[in-house]
Amino acid sequence: MANNSPAKNLLYQKLQEVIDEKKGLQNPLIEILHQAQGIFGYLPAEVQQYIAEQMNIPIGKIYGVVTFYNFFSMEPRGKHVINVCTGTACYVKGAPKVIQMFEEELSIKMGETTKDGLFTLTSVRCVGACSLAPVFVIDNETYGRVDARKKLVKILDTYR
Ligand code: FES
Repeated sequence: MANNSPAKNLLYQKLQEVIDEKKGLQNPLIEILHQAQGIFGYLPAEVQQYIAEQMNIPIGKIYGVVTFYNFFSMEPRGKHVINVCTGTACYVKGAPKVIQMFEEELSIKMGETTKDGLFTLTSVRCVGACSLAPVFVIDNETYGRVDARKKLVKILDTYR
């Protein structure tokens, strides 16, 4: 096990349970990585290494999957994750402006986490709510047609 602190061991124990449960499925890797990210909050190299060893697959394959999908993160994420939709409809209706407003309000760039660990700003492809474009999702909550800074700050304040 990668670390012997009791809290961390507990996380690895949970991960092992997930691996044992899913291992027999067809193509279980993405599901296991999803759950691993839920357990650890992100997917550091040591977690990827552990999964590779347990599943007997090359670490390069895990790394390839983790870096291919932008919902996987190798860095610790903030308490709240802001996913700005950059699908075509949202892009046309002002996603770049929404991103700029978040960046200015939070003093971070796309892909970064605020110093206080409260927010991570990231992007997603179409979330299926195009009629509400421009759309962003904070944790599991979807917000649409937010094109004014005042509105955006009000929403952010509810998470502060
Ligand atoms: S393009 Fe943003 S929800 Fe579809």
